[in-house]
Amino acid sequence: MARKELLMCGIVGYIGPRDASEVLLHGLGRLEYRGYDSAGVAIDDGQHLQLRRSVGKLANLAAQLREYPVNGRCGIGHTRWATHGGVTEENAHPHRDASGEIVVIQNGIVENYLELKERLIAHGHQFVSQTDTEVIARLLGEYYDETGSLEQAMRRTLAELRGGNAVVAMTRREPGRIVAARLGHAGGIVVGLGDDEMFVASDVPAILDYTRRVVFLDDREIAVLDAGGATISRLDGTPVTRDPMSIPWDPVSAAKGDYKHFMQKEIFEQPRALTDVLRGRIDLDHGAVLLDELTFRHQELRQLERIYAIGCGTAWHAALVAKFAIEALARLRVEVDYGSEFRYRDPLIGERAAVLAITQSGETVDTLAAMEEARRQNAKSIAIVNAVGSQAARLADGGAIYLHAGPEIGVASTKAFTTMLVASYMLALRLGAVRGVLSADEVRRYIQALIELPGKVERILERQSIYEELAERYHGARDALYLGRQVNYPIALEGALKLKEISYIHAEGYPAGEMKHGPIALIDRDLPVVCIAIRDSVYEKMISNIEQVRARGGHVIAIAAEGDTLMASKADYVIEVPPTLPLLTPVLTSIPMQLIAYHMAVHRGCDVDQPRNLAKSVTVE
Ligand code: AGP
Repeated sequence: MARKELLMCGIVGYIGPRDASEVLLHGLGRLEYRGYDSAGVAIDDGQHLQLRRSVGKLANLAAQLREYPVNGRCGIGHTRWATHGGVTEENAHPHRDASGEIVVIQNGIVENYLELKERLIAHGHQFVSQTDTEVIARLLGEYYDETGSLEQAMRRTLAELRGGNAVVAMTRREPGRIVAARLGHAGGIVVGLGDDEMFVASDVPAILDYTRRVVFLDDREIAVLDAGGATISRLDGTPVTRDPMSIPWDPVSAAKGDYKHFMQKEIFEQPRALTDVLRGRIDLDHGAVLLDELTFRHQELRQLERIYAIGCGTAWHAALVAKFAIEALARLRVEVDYGSEFRYRDPLIGERAAVLAITQSGETVDTLAAMEEARRQNAKSIAIVNAVGSQAARLADGGAIYLHAGPEIGVASTKAFTTMLVASYMLALRLGAVRGVLSADEVRRYIQALIELPGKVERILERQSIYEELAERYHGARDALYLGRQVNYPIALEGALKLKEISYIHAEGYPAGEMKHGPIALIDRDLPVVCIAIRDSVYEKMISNIEQVRARGGHVIAIAAEGDTLMASKADYVIEVPPTLPLLTPVLTSIPMQLIAYHMAVHRGCDVDQPRNLAKSVTVE
């Protein structure tokens, strides 16, 4: 828990008798651990909304506030990690609407921002930043003119946004009021209740020094705050009554919030983690992936002939997906190795090769040994890693691509896995572009699809009842089989691993085409078979495999594309996932895998977060 790890973008707001700039700076300071590249505040001084923004550390913003102080009791503040647009003062939050009377801060990504921006430009708006946040500000301004209410303007604006977002705004025309809203899971909003003062933040630590009585906003809820209290309602206008909860002093249970297990929390954090891994690395306007952390010169990237993708357990499954991505998008050969095997097979790495080490903890000894082997053979290694400053990050002379997924406490890896996949796609796109395999338009198509993934994961997370039903039905199973093909074969392996490690049910993952060469003998009336059968190039082959399972009495749980009516007639249970580009489907098909394992384990009374015999990071051979 004490490790330094990063999540992106922080939000703080305050109304009450204290000096707002002091409260905002203090709160933002508490969120520094999330990482940021610029910061800003907007404070109502009674006559104007005063903005102070600066690039770099909070100390720069504090210095600016010392030089140009603002005296006010109501304000909002933000630490930004760039997504759309570079690290500049103009791109730092808060952003103003066209009148300059409304200010807004945001966490998340507006998936349809290009479309909205074009529409606003056609209406005569002149943008002063490259951010998607300014689109929100300008929409708020337009709708304010129509409704005369910030709350109503917020409802109308949010109805136009696609993607997970947390948005906080205030206006000079409604002094002493802050409106905060949450759309999806990419950014949380917590309202802190004080005596004659109110707080709002993206995360509890920002306000814990002032109050421990908090209310969390759920998806599609909006809170209107003034110093005397907060009114919460759904975006459709339905009022919400929710008792405040008291945050305990113990930081571990505080971190778990109202989730039963860390694993459950981490599963639900994925929309946000998937947003954060993209931050600062994608440029939709120019169709480019920026992975500035790579130390390779362009020439070196162009000359690469081979990549060895290495990991252990779940990270090894991510390496298998990385192979598909890099071979397809960069036409560069990838070999996948277990960390624990690599150095013992006396690998011939070669000069024009690089090692890609994938690891959540950055401390897995076998993976580190593979990186050392690369160094011994004068090859560079790149790390896709979550833990900041870990050994893998330090050893990666080719660059460390951080996942920015935040601490993963549950032993079963969830958000680290899906962010590993997205980091691998970005690496593949970068390689594909540099090596002249992909055009900017092709890269843009993938970036747009990547941006849409967090929202699609949310859609999957919204449908929970099926997993309880499955756990009820199959928790007594002794074995389970997971089948997938092509890029979803690694996800079948991952599903089986998840089930084994936390529910102790024996499970095997298999490429579906291999079933007839052995595992088919296992199929009987007691065997649940999880089949990933989305509408891709191997869909029809998966359907035949499903028929083969059914013909032998096996129970089919299908992970299928939304609206696949044929599947309903073939499978015992169907879990739907939204469509995306075929190569990216593993991010979506992984989510049901995690949820099946989680609910089975809970039903069986297992210790979900700390399964027997397992350690979060394996630092022994
Ligand atoms: C995942 O659920 C496992 N607990 C385990 O396989 C893990 O992925 C493996 O030990 C590798 O860990 P790392 O990502 O920290 O290197």
